[in-house]
Amino acid sequence: MPGGSHAITARRGKSLEKAFEYPAGCGQSWRMKGSLFIVGWLAATAVFAADSSSIYHPGWIDFNKDGKKNVYEDPSQPADKRARDLLKRMTVDEKIGQLWQVDLPRALEPQAAARLRNGEVGSYLGSDATLETPVVRNQLQHVAVEQSRLGIPVILGHDVIHGFRTVFPIPLGQACAWEPGLFERTGAMAAREAAAVGIDWTFAPMVDLARDPRWGRIAESFGEDPWLGALDGAASVRGFQGTNVQAAGRVVACVKHYVGYGAAEGGRDYNTTEISEYTLRNFYLPQFKAAVDAGVLTVMSSFNCLSGVPASGNRHTLTDILRGEWKFGGFVVSDYQAVAELVDHGVAANDAEAARLALTAGVDMEMVSRTYHDTLKQQIEQGLIPQGVLDKAVRRVLTVKFQKGLFDRPYADESVYPTAFLRPDALALAREAAANSCVLLKDEDRVLPLAAGGKRIVLLGPLAEAAQELVGPWHSRAHTNDLISLADAMREQLGARVKLAVARGCAVFEPGVIKVPRDITSFSPLRGSPSGANEIPEAVALAKTADVVVLALGEPLDWSGEDGSRSDLGLPGLQEQLFDAVAATGKPVVVVLFNGRPLAITQLQQKAAAILDAWFPGTQGANGVADVLFGRVEPSGRLTATFPRSVGQVPFYYDHFNTGRPGFGEYKGNYVDIPTVPLYPFGYGLAYTTFEFGGVQLATNALSLHGTLTARAEIKNTGTRAGTAVAELYLRALATTAGSRPVRELKGFQKVRLQPGEARRVSFELPAHQLGYYDAAGHWLVEPGRYQVWISQDSAAGDPAAFALRQ
Ligand code: BGC
Repeated sequence: MPGGSHAITARRGKSLEKAFEYPAGCGQSWRMKGSLFIVGWLAATAVFAADSSSIYHPGWIDFNKDGKKNVYEDPSQPADKRARDLLKRMTVDEKIGQLWQVDLPRALEPQAAARLRNGEVGSYLGSDATLETPVVRNQLQHVAVEQSRLGIPVILGHDVIHGFRTVFPIPLGQACAWEPGLFERTGAMAAREAAAVGIDWTFAPMVDLARDPRWGRIAESFGEDPWLGALDGAASVRGFQGTNVQAAGRVVACVKHYVGYGAAEGGRDYNTTEISEYTLRNFYLPQFKAAVDAGVLTVMSSFNCLSGVPASGNRHTLTDILRGEWKFGGFVVSDYQAVAELVDHGVAANDAEAARLALTAGVDMEMVSRTYHDTLKQQIEQGLIPQGVLDKAVRRVLTVKFQKGLFDRPYADESVYPTAFLRPDALALAREAAANSCVLLKDEDRVLPLAAGGKRIVLLGPLAEAAQELVGPWHSRAHTNDLISLADAMREQLGARVKLAVARGCAVFEPGVIKVPRDITSFSPLRGSPSGANEIPEAVALAKTADVVVLALGEPLDWSGEDGSRSDLGLPGLQEQLFDAVAATGKPVVVVLFNGRPLAITQLQQKAAAILDAWFPGTQGANGVADVLFGRVEPSGRLTATFPRSVGQVPFYYDHFNTGRPGFGEYKGNYVDIPTVPLYPFGYGLAYTTFEFGGVQLATNALSLHGTLTARAEIKNTGTRAGTAVAELYLRALATTAGSRPVRELKGFQKVRLQPGEARRVSFELPAHQLGYYDAAGHWLVEPGRYQVWISQDSAAGDPAAFALRQ
């Protein structure tokens, strides 16, 4: 890995590719064959009719090869009618086959072909280099369509989380842009690239509420706020699916992980969660509900045990709430082997019980483990599972396949992919998203933005040249040679006449750290090269020659994401030592952080001149960050997850309850060794200018239950540069009957761009209906009583105005 401090580990094939290549033997001939597709699917199907069989007719495909256009083969019929018709024709074995997702084979292997012929597989999970082109996927699809009895196409899923070949910032970063529309745009772009290789379905968005930065998957989350998370999640669904999921370049979305997965005890991935029904309803479920309302076609059931009942065998959440209350009509897929894991959870004695529990709870498709495949038939024959339960699950899966258009266009157009990746519009969006994800945490004495000429800038730190770290944990099909480092991006902005001096200073982490202690006798030390003995002194010597030092620090990319939990929230390895040594030179130090989670960085907060959190910014991340550093783009991000002072404070989130003993005196439950307040609160972020927020003015202080609250505040740009203020509207209900309410909860925001000296009044309209909350039974309650409202720069700033809600 050029310039890398450690190898990128391949988890189920999630590794960076070195270069784009056509697979052996699938080069020109496939591309020529693929070019036939551009004349439209009718003509293309005629090609295959000539090639393989006579099932391809103008306008329809004779999937069951009976020479007749049956209802399920008729594109003019509605999806649910086609699904019902097909279901009637299926054997029990074929039905069970539709409920099994297996790993995508790397080639058309005999065993894979045999399974398809038998109708044993309904879906593939793709995660490796096979996804560079649609070739293998199409070959497999041809077998499914042409050689199985009913010709049912498979649906190919893949984790397109924050981009495909063009990688966008991690979701936590994008969420900091406070711009749900960004998820719609990046989702659409990612779908376009993914669809080009025949991916039909993405396992995104992940809408799990994340209040604990030890949990590595906070990187994939939108942060700690359910209201903003719901907007981001719904926008992401719209981005992937579009208004017509059959259209070229769209993929089926899958909202995950249902539910409670982010509340893992100790922040350890897959760990138990204990969430009261009241908290579940108010904090963990709303984002899922919003995705369902936005039309998401699939839901993934999660790994965790939820308040004693594993989520993938949880009838209450999967059926009563999802189907009963929300009327979700798509299908549920389990997380990876989560059905078989019901045995490990101790709620099923064997695979058969696990399958029965999951299917009857509401898991329609099983990801990778084979309990459905191996046991359902016998259980149905024995009457242990009603046939109707199986049929319902199969119908749901088939309906989504029809909705996606798989029966009308089963093959990916192979003329598209060679030019589908890293297109200029995708790269421009990636750069914009990276810049807008940046959160300026500190900027003392206005050391930022940097001037491109004049002062001598020195770039230090383990992430200065480590381009491949910047793509973050779910980098999908990113290739190392697509990426640029911060050093290169800065060089480009500095121009050829300036020579940027760069030194690593230390490794991003020191090898030998135990990442996954499997048992007390064996552990897997992290791979990587240690810092050299002289690196810190070298870096310090270079720092002494500088007017300003940029120090690129952070985490290795796989210390967040799945199974990337940490027990410590400081900077890994020798980075804090490096920082201290460089700061001791007295030179202004601008820290650029690349990280997958909030970090406890009190040292940096005290001694750095500036801190810019860039998260893992993606393919164009370094350019986006350089745009902000040099002031081409104003920083406008705001945190969506609290930065703690110490790991001991977590879980730590702004929308906590008041407790019976709020405040800071004795016997108030504060820590004796550190302040109880966060390092940086939710909603926090600076600009290159300053803003003054005036007091909140309410149109009335007595609102009726059918009324709308109007809240206004004046915002003034008090600095010398233009900048974007984010006006954040928070609410507090002071007395409620079904449970406590948070000390503040976000209910709105507006981004306002202001010129120096300019003042503008922002105005929010909040219908009384939106002041409510859920009781434990899921009823939305809007209750008369006293309320407070803030319009502030962050969740800890400003003074509230009060009003009463009247009958
Ligand atoms: C993860 C999911 C992912 C799935 C398929 C699981 O281990 O928890 O988020 O979608 O694998 O890759």
